[in-house]
Amino acid sequence: MTIIDSILQRRSMKMVQGPGPNAEQLDTLLRAAMCAPDHGRLRPWRFKLICDADVVALGELAIAANERAGTPLTEQKAASTRAWLAKVPLLIAVACHLDHSNEKIPEEERLLACGAAVTNILNVAHALGFGAFWSTGLGTYTDEVPEALGFDALDYRFMGFVSIGTPIHKLGAPERPDPAEFVQQWHAS
Ligand SMILES: Cc1cc2nc3c(=O)[nH]c(=O)nc-3n(C[C@H](O)[C@H](O)[C@H](O)COP(=O)(O)O)c2cc1C
Repeated sequence: MTIIDSILQRRSMKMVQGPGPNAEQLDTLLRAAMCAPDHGRLRPWRFKLICDADVVALGELAIAANERAGTPLTEQKAASTRAWLAKVPLLIAVACHLDHSNEKIPEEERLLACGAAVTNILNVAHALGFGAFWSTGLGTYTDEVPEALGFDALDYRFMGFVSIGTPIHKLGAPERPDPAEFVQQWHAS
């Protein structure tokens, strides 16, 4: 498959199981992240790798953090979250380093660079045959979960988790919108 075909057929896949990426594949995924466009070479992306039993522990932390934050998951949502994470071999937690000393590059550009880094991970995971899914559940917007991962709110904007593993279901490429609906020609008047 060409890289173009792979990108055009990418889809998010939440339901995955082991095996996750091996060391070489993980290295490839992370190298792809380093290739994201990045104004000023700030390299604002930061990742924490969470594997196997630690994924389950992270899920418990997220459920408890939501409870403590006053935004508890329903019993059904907590159960489905536990069932999902019990099979996920790898989570990559993603944060953007804000670097307040840099006044030249606006914060949104760093966030965009991090989003581009995650997109590279999603595309390369798909090209390698893995299922991957970007989620801002799992207590992303609590104070407790980012802090437990080492991302204090002053210096980092926490951006959620990418789950990666072997797809459980065989899913084809989804329907995508016609680009014409989103594109117009601009002419100098
Ligand atoms: C920043 C970001 C956060 C997301 N968070 C969630 C989430 O918490 N839950 C969810 O179901 N989908 C979430 N999504 C959407 C999925 O990752 C995925 O993009 C969506 O299901 C569409 O699938 P596709 O990537 O195959 O088009 C998020 C997407 C982005 C870009």
